[in-house]
Amino acid sequence: MASDDHTTPTALLRQEHELILEVAGALAEMLAGQPDEPLDYDTVSRCITFFRLYADACHHGKEEDLLFPALAAHGLPEQAGPVAVMLHEHEEGRAMVRTMGASLPAAQAGETAADASLTNAAADFVELITAHIGKENNILFDIADQLITGPACNDLCAAYGELCDELFEGRSKQDLVEIASTIVNRS
Ligand SMILES: [Fe+2]
Repeated sequence: MASDDHTTPTALLRQEHELILEVAGALAEMLAGQPDEPLDYDTVSRCITFFRLYADACHHGKEEDLLFPALAAHGLPEQAGPVAVMLHEHEEGRAMVRTMGASLPAAQAGETAADASLTNAAADFVELITAHIGKENNILFDIADQLITGPACNDLCAAYGELCDELFEGRSKQDLVEIASTIVNRS
């Protein structure tokens, strides 16, 4: 996966969406296997790590700290309209992933209520993030591609690169891509 795609202000983010959707799809498959087979809690734990650190810290971090302010500078406010909707959905997703993480230990210990809380939050998150990415890819990002061009686009992509080079709770972006690979290629 190229991390240096500077052709548009959203190319890298669209690439990251593909990986997020792959992991969400793997989680959806695991949930669909319920209740006939026990949930693979170790893989669910990896999903939670991936969603917290890749989807949120690394990916939403670039949207919230870099793309959305750049859109605001080009006349698209953060307080209303599509950007406000995206910010609200990021918060909803964070709450769902927090619920997943909080429920996991007791679910792993065999508590039925915790398992239900975990699976409900996981299903809600899969639905939310799938629809959310669709809206970004098909609406907001098309607007961004028209608004942010030339030097502004180059500056934004350079800033993306700096954020991607950070560590997220000690993990590099590549570490998180490898976690995603473990999830998607689980046996
Ligand atoms: Fe996104």
